[in-house]
Amino acid sequence: MKTFVATLAVTLLPALAAALVIGSGRDAEKRAANFEGKDTLLRPKDYREWVFVGSSLGLRYDENADKQRSEELEYKNVYINPSAYRAYQKTGKFPQGTVLILETATAETKKEPGLQGSFEKEFTSLAAAVKDRERFGDEWAYFHFNDKPGNPAATARPSPKAACYDCHHKKAAEDNVFTQFYPVLRAARKK
Ligand code: HEC
Repeated sequence: MKTFVATLAVTLLPALAAALVIGSGRDAEKRAANFEGKDTLLRPKDYREWVFVGSSLGLRYDENADKQRSEELEYKNVYINPSAYRAYQKTGKFPQGTVLILETATAETKKEPGLQGSFEKEFTSLAAAVKDRERFGDEWAYFHFNDKPGNPAATARPSPKAACYDCHHKKAAEDNVFTQFYPVLRAARKK
């Protein structure tokens, strides 16, 4: 019996320890959004290690716009925190605590013999959407890390509803999120 217990301990303990380490990793991920006080969002530092869900060039709702010149177009890159991505894969829903990041960059075209197309040059701004009903009353809150272009502020206050939430609520395909523009999320859901 003693040896049985000892063998059990030897085999089970490392597994238990590993589970704890994985568990704490997941916990850290769960807090993709960290706040100062009630609702001031700290800029997520590691979002470029998250899941990249899509990018666009010059995409915007603007009914009175003249055609933009290609050098004025802006790139947008969108990321989601990994635990929310996994939950979305399983359930097709964005869980509480989901964070989506939108990073914008200038577009550059180089006049170089034989080189076609445009590429991202400098990062210009950073925004976040956070799903947290308990904290905000609404399902989603929106943040813009306003500062100098390419140098986003360390913290952001929630933006007024009319500035962000309303357009997202009206035009986005799924739960305020523009999944119609994110092929990675659409593919995740099909699995
Ligand atoms: C007139 C419509 C409109 C308004 C107003 C708007 N957005 Fe968006 N937003 C979009 C569209 C369209 C996308 C899709 C991504 C893209 O443009 O490539 C998007 C995507 C995002 C994303 C990526 C996640 C998602 O929800 O799809 C974030 C974060 C975001 N916007 C933040 C903001 C913030 C912060 C504000 C207010 C300061 C704001 N938005 C105002 C249209 C809008």
